[in-house]
Formats: sequence, C-alpha cells, structure tokens
Amino acid sequence: MSSITVTAHANIALIKYWGKRDQDLHLPTKTSLSVGLDALKTTTTIAISQDENDHITLNGAPAQPKTAQPIKDFLALFKKMYGITTPLAISTINNFPTAAGLASSASGFAALTLGLDRFFNLNLTPRQQSHLARRGSGSACRSLYGGFVVWHQGHQPDGTDSYAEQRYPATHWPTLRIIIVVVSATEKKVSSRIAMQCSVTTSPFYHQWIEESEQRLDLMYKALATKDFCLLGHLAEEDCLGMHKTMHTSIPAINFWSPTTYELINLVNNLRTQHNITCYFTIDAGANVKILCQAHHEPTICNHLQKITGVLSYITSTIAHDPMVTP
Ligand code: PMV
Repeated sequence: MSSITVTAHANIALIKYWGKRDQDLHLPTKTSLSVGLDALKTTTTIAISQDENDHITLNGAPAQPKTAQPIKDFLALFKKMYGITTPLAISTINNFPTAAGLASSASGFAALTLGLDRFFNLNLTPRQQSHLARRGSGSACRSLYGGFVVWHQGHQPDGTDSYAEQRYPATHWPTLRIIIVVVSATEKKVSSRIAMQCSVTTSPFYHQWIEESEQRLDLMYKALATKDFCLLGHLAEEDCLGMHKTMHTSIPAINFWSPTTYELINLVNNLRTQHNITCYFTIDAGANVKILCQAHHEPTICNHLQKITGVLSYITSTIAHDPMVTP
C-alpha cells in the first residue's frame, strides 16, 4: 500500500481529564467524557519515506522541532512496540490553529494511530488503539471515535483497563451545537502536561474536584440518556470551572484565560439569565471558549459574538462522526 489517509476530529471534554496517575503511560486520575467536534479536523497521510529518516510535515511545511518531536517520539514508541523499522513520511493538515487549546494533539494522534494500524495491517483491537493513541496525548484516545466518548480511567498499573469507548454516536443528538470561539491562535506558554502536574501536586482543591467530578459523570450519563440540555450544560460548566480552579490555586498559579475569556463567560451568563437563551461554556487548557447550545439559538449567540472585539473568529460545529480512513 503506497499511502493511507485518515481524518479524525478534535474533541471537547464535558467531564474533564486533568491529571495523570502514571506520567509515562498517560494514565488518568479519573474518567472523562467528551463530544467530538465535526468542524475541527486533522487529516494525516502516511507513506514510506524517500530516505532512511522519518519526515513530518504540518500544513504543507516541515514541522518545527517543538511540534515534530512528540510525533517522532510517538513513532519511535510505536515502532518499538510492533517491531517495525520502516522510515515514514507523515503529512498532517489541521483546519484549525495548532496548540491553541483546540485539542490538535487529540485529533492528530488519533489520526496517526488509526493510520499506522491500517498502513501496517496490524488489526489492532479498539483497546489496543486506545492504548497507543493515549501515549501520544491522553485525550487522543477519545478522538478515535465520533459522538460522545468515555475514557475509562482504569485501575491496573499497566493501563490495560484504561481505554476509550463511544457512549453515543453523533446521530444521538443532531440539534446539539458547539461554537468554538477563538480568542487566541498562538501557542500556549505552559503545556497541559506541566499545568496538570502542577494542579495534582500543589492545588488544595484537586482531590475535591476529582470527587465532585466523579459524581458529575453519573449525572452526565443521565443528561445524555434523556437529552437534557440544561443538565448537560450545567455539569460541563461546573466541571470546567472546577478544573480551572485547581490551576488558579496551584503553585505557581496557572491561568490560561485572557480578558476576552472572562468577557465570554459573562456573555454566556447574561444570555442565559437575562435573555432566556440556554447556552453554557466550557474551556480547556487555553483561552478559547466553547459555547454549548441548541441549533435554534446558534444565530443569536453568533450575533452577540460579533460585537466582542477580542473574538478573533468563531466556528460552529455539530457533533463529529467517526474518523474516516482511506483507502
Ligand atoms: O490530552 P492532553 O494531554 O492534551 O490534555 C487535555 C486536557 C484538557 O483538554 C484540558 C481536558 C480534556 O479532558 O480534554
């Protein structure tokens, strides 16, 4: 086979992953649950390299060392795990800003995992795919599927019971919308890896957040089963605020939010409480905000976003379908 192309989508966690119980294996301290974002995708093509080295290109140009290194490390790990020596040419295209808190690593490592599996005819089981994708970036195992996806924390030290699985496909909730509001398209100064470790080791609120988040997960399952949008949004906001509280109270304190992030949080609160527009926010390790809403409220929310000067752009998204592998 001369090449394989895979498209996978970014995901946004409604119940977050923040903290590892094993740094090397990327094993999480808790179970998380995400929804795939149809509008944010990574397309990765895998072919055999023309020389004896692996080559990584990102959006048409050789990837900068900071971006290329984690991919090279991942390839080295993959080759070691499966006894492969073939040098590879990996070409990746993101249709959204890389490393700006829009989970490009999740869609990227998911696409790479599925592509490598198919390219080398490995026929990995879904759990093996999860284990591999997770080694690139924890949340990548959730981008192996579209729809609503759970990443089980697992308890085994070797991580065999820590894997992602789809809870519901995209078709479960066709009217759900996620508006991705870009307020910063630059790379973040602190990596998620360092920031989460700082929360785990120094925030006095970390364990409280874990306990509360576990209870929220059960309620989130109910919200999804009954398609209770208000419950879903309320839980997602609470979980996000709890996660950021562990960052704001860590030593050193880490705050990814910009003044526009705060403005957007206020906008969502105002729309909900003063204008009867049921929408909620969630934010990952960056300044960008994702607004959860239902299709009929999307145009009004977008009108409000246009009036905020710090908003660089926004992208409206439905729920992602499963990744696509060709041929
Ligand atoms: O997968 P990582 O190492 O990029 O960490 C992602 C962490 C959050 O996006 C903040 C939360 C999550 O569950 O996706």
